[in-house]
Amino acid sequence: MQMEGKVAVVTGGAAGIGLASAQKLCDLGARVAILDRDAKAASESVTALEKSGYTASYFPCDVSIESQVEKAISATVARYGGLHVLVSNAGIQRYGDVVTTAPELWDETMAVHVKGCFHATKYAIPAMLASGGGAIVIVASVQSFTAVNNSVAYVAAKHALLGITRAIALDFASRNIRANCVCPGAIDTPMLRATADRTGTPQEMLAAIARMHALGRIGRPQEVANAVAFLASDDASFITGTSLIVDGGLLVPTGGMGFQESGVGTEGEE
Ligand SMILES: NC(=O)c1ccc[n+]([C@@H]2O[C@H](COP(=O)([O-])OP(=O)(O)OC[C@H]3O[C@@H](n4cnc5c(N)ncnc54)[C@H](O)[C@@H]3O)[C@@H](O)[C@H]2O)c1
Repeated sequence: MQMEGKVAVVTGGAAGIGLASAQKLCDLGARVAILDRDAKAASESVTALEKSGYTASYFPCDVSIESQVEKAISATVARYGGLHVLVSNAGIQRYGDVVTTAPELWDETMAVHVKGCFHATKYAIPAMLASGGGAIVIVASVQSFTAVNNSVAYVAAKHALLGITRAIALDFASRNIRANCVCPGAIDTPMLRATADRTGTPQEMLAAIARMHALGRIGRPQEVANAVAFLASDDASFITGTSLIVDGGLLVPTGGMGFQESGVGTEGEE
């Protein structure tokens, strides 16, 4: 994989999976623009990238606000002269079932994940076309295929991202734009830590989450970033419209790891 000469935008790139993706793309030679609504974290992340000798910038942006996304992507193109990669990653976690979820919380979740991705791709694609083509990687989730209880808005939003991925892949394939998504299991980021803190017993919660994965641990942001970078790179030149599950085997065991660990009989038993 290499990204020399490429320009990448990473939404939600100030922390967690987005920051790890920005770092990985920089490692591979890309110039990276971080679009994030957390100005302090984003500018600290860019300073750290620059200290490592990378070329990176921060553009303040709430992905749910169209005008801010348009401005930030246009500023990226003006600074770096083109755009080749978009990592649409910004996300929030919200809780509730259909009865307890307030309409405002539903709208907020959809606005960040779904509309945010719509905005980012809407303005990135013309810039990519003007640059000769590009690759889009959308950060979805295992919850794009499955559901976690009390998370209806998040689950619905993550399912929608699969549809956006496939629609873009089809609509722009003939114009040299690929679109794929990565679907992480539990990854050790500020978002996951905040989820664990809600339980009041975060260490127990994190241990329980780790056990749900066949590999017996929570993933690292860099492990998702590696998959993001692969799909964004020319090494994935014949891959579009697909989803890459990066979940340490979370979705593999029928009945979950608890069922597997309780044993399913031994050879020779009736
Ligand atoms: N951590 C996990 O276990 C996990 C698992 C599966 C999928 N994901 C997805 O990965 C993505 C990144 O998650 P993370 O765990 O790194 O989260 P995080 O909370 O650690 O980081 C998210 C970043 O997005 C930014 N952001 C949030 N809303 C924004 C908005 N409206 N506009 C611009 N920036 C915004 C935040 O400021 C932050 O920098 C999300 O889409 C999340 O749903 C995370």
